Amino acid sequence: MKIACIGTGFVGVVTSAVFAKLGNQVVGLDIDEKKIDLLRQGIVPFFEPQLSELLVETQKTGNLTFTTDYSQGIKDSDIVMIMVGTPSAPDGQADLKYVFAATESLAPHLKDGAIVIVKSTVPPGTNAKVREIIKANTSVNFEMASVPEFLKEGTAVEDTLRPDRAVIGVESDRARDILVELHKPLTSNVVIMKPESAQMCKYAANNYLATRITFINQISDLCEANGADIQEVIKGIGQDKRIGAHYWYPGLGYGGSCFPKDVKEIAAYAKSINENESLFIKIDDLNSKRIGRLMAGYDKLAGGFAGKTVAVLGLSFKPNTNDTRVAPCLEVIPWLLDHGATVKATDPKAIEEIKPLLPTKVQYLNDVYETIKGASVVILLVEWDEYKTLDLSKINSLMSEPKYFIDTRNQYNASSMETAGLKYKGVGR
Ligand SMILES: NC(=O)c1ccc[n+]([C@@H]2O[C@H](COP(=O)([O-])OP(=O)(O)OC[C@H]3O[C@@H](n4cnc5c(N)ncnc54)[C@H](O)[C@@H]3O)[C@@H](O)[C@H]2O)c1
Repeated sequence: MKIACIGTGFVGVVTSAVFAKLGNQVVGLDIDEKKIDLLRQGIVPFFEPQLSELLVETQKTGNLTFTTDYSQGIKDSDIVMIMVGTPSAPDGQADLKYVFAATESLAPHLKDGAIVIVKSTVPPGTNAKVREIIKANTSVNFEMASVPEFLKEGTAVEDTLRPDRAVIGVESDRARDILVELHKPLTSNVVIMKPESAQMCKYAANNYLATRITFINQISDLCEANGADIQEVIKGIGQDKRIGAHYWYPGLGYGGSCFPKDVKEIAAYAKSINENESLFIKIDDLNSKRIGRLMAGYDKLAGGFAGKTVAVLGLSFKPNTNDTRVAPCLEVIPWLLDHGATVKATDPKAIEEIKPLLPTKVQYLNDVYETIKGASVVILLVEWDEYKTLDLSKINSLMSEPKYFIDTRNQYNASSMETAGLKYKGVGR
């Protein structure tokens, strides 16, 4: 099929490359000329495992091209996928200005019979507005559909090549048949529904996962008060088939480009329909306050951060990505600086991305042990593989007193830290 992917960010590049690999003719379209120039040279402007190889391979076959020109990108496309960003507006609701701008630009070039898919995460009801904009700018026949994206940064290529399911929101049998055919090589598990339901699926999935993180953090806080160990509790509850052993991440709360905004959007939506007791308002509130609360506790534990050197390990929002949107360090490091600490920081991939977002007095180092050298507190923020098997005795020899290792990802345990002469603080244990 001939496909135009509008917006070549994280979702757009992965989706374009995967559909091109399946033998479709794909045009990736963005208004960011620099990004398109890089992509044309086979350079992915962010770090995502397996993506560079796939980009180069699919461009070589001629199945994937890139453009900034809407007429060129849209005129022959049977399927047009909108994948531009949808950040939160100041009131928490989804800011749809990029979706509507992209729609205005694509509409005059639309081919007769094209299917316009909204893949960006948008509130139910958005398709009606997109349809109105298109209708005002063209007289051709077209159909609207919603196919929300569930990929995870860090495993985006795998997730897109082998999704758990494809959720397809359509209004006609024709659109259903075409989109089932398009997704057939990826999964036979296609769930067909109304576009509004498909959009709600995306919000429900992300809000559920954010709730799970908040839930286990709440249990962690109780564990800290009563001597239980959250990792043991997770093992115990995980054996219950209704609950499951997967996706339990006690820590500083959820971050990244999706969960914070998707929870805020559902919370704002709930308020807008007078659901003022909505669970999601509370989840958003708990998560927003969590880092400040925990940092105050760590400050007390370490005898005050003022005058101390703190080594921060991990600057992306999670491992295997250099995406720094709502990364924990963006709150942790300013907190440390405000409380008088000197901060040294490292990350395998995200140093250059984080630099413009943090005060200039942060010292960045590529080597983890150089970062730890001279620090009296280490804070592990992201569980990159590189940080899972650190040489604890070496760390002891490099640190100065009081030698606290704050492990916000529960990668280590108190006994191995104590054996190495370090003071350990995990989450919920
Ligand atoms: N990043 C994820 O892990 C993820 C996962 C699932 C769903 N989503 C959703 O997918 C959507 C895109 O997310 P992302 O992370 O890829 O965003 P992104 O910010 O990485 O990329 C968005 C791209 O859209 C481009 N753009 C903006 N306006 C445009 C226009 N008028 N015409 C053409 N291009 C335009 C930008 O230049 C940018 O390259 C969002 O709605 C997000 O919530 C993201």
